[in-house]
Amino acid sequence: YSLGLRKVLISDEVDQKCVEILQSNNVEVTKNTKLSKDELLQIIPEYDGLIVRSATKVTADVIEAGRNLKIIGRAGTGVDNIDAEAATRNGIIVMNTPGGNTLSAAEHTCTLIIALTRNLGSASMSMKEGKWDRKKFMGSELYGKTLAIIGLGRIGKEVALRMQAFGMTTIGFDPLVKPEECAEWNTEWLSLDDIWPRADYITVHTPLIPQTKHLLNDITFAKCKKGVRVVNCARGGIIEEAALLRALESGQCAGAGLDVFVEEPPKDYTLAKHPNVIATPHLGASTVEAQTRVAEDIALQFVDLVQGKSLFGA
Ligand code: MLT
Repeated sequence: YSLGLRKVLISDEVDQKCVEILQSNNVEVTKNTKLSKDELLQIIPEYDGLIVRSATKVTADVIEAGRNLKIIGRAGTGVDNIDAEAATRNGIIVMNTPGGNTLSAAEHTCTLIIALTRNLGSASMSMKEGKWDRKKFMGSELYGKTLAIIGLGRIGKEVALRMQAFGMTTIGFDPLVKPEECAEWNTEWLSLDDIWPRADYITVHTPLIPQTKHLLNDITFAKCKKGVRVVNCARGGIIEEAALLRALESGQCAGAGLDVFVEEPPKDYTLAKHPNVIATPHLGASTVEAQTRVAEDIALQFVDLVQGKSLFGA
């Protein structure tokens, strides 16, 4: 399968490596990260390829306006900002780069787990306010605790391996992964109902789909141990925000590490401001290494297509 790709538009902040690789393969590239929706609609017909991260919303009207579009590439994993159905209807290929930011997302998750258990966010804030408050920030060890990983794909596995180094027991659930498979990396596969009462920490690594939306809600929080801590570096909404706030207020949840929100940026900062929450503005994949990798990956995947090699990406 080979595509005649002549002109590609990059409409989000993608590493320059992407431009270089495409240009050295005779593809004309325009990088413009400042386009309004109307401007995008106006210029998209000129291009046969589009590369985005998450800021550009590739909605059905953009896809329909892109009369010459053959391919849309996401430099990253989640394709929730691309209307894949509309793309398919119009015969446009959608590609992502699922591997490139795995390690960064896993490392950020581990960072939040560790930071949560030692109250790092609030303790650091209090020192910035000139306070020396040692009593207030008693933490707990990770050693001997159980970490539940919902979603045992690439990122979930890397989180398990890293947190095992702290002496954590890892358990998890994923309908697409076999128990024997995760047993190989010392993670016990359990049903969700068996997970809730056992977990000291829960981290989610799934896409946001109907089956995962509000996976943690009032009912499932109530099934957890009192004082469970939760981390979401995947997608806002997997943990129901209102239920999380209630669980934090009642003490059912002792802390939350949140990198993602239902609305980004959130209109309401109540959760982010909660003393038992450590929040970051969707930084899971924001490392030099991950951004270089995804930029290279998407460019090389485009080049493969020009050269008629096989397709990659979900
Ligand atoms: C992804 O899906 O790749 C991550 O959420 C990172 C990003 O949006 O850049």
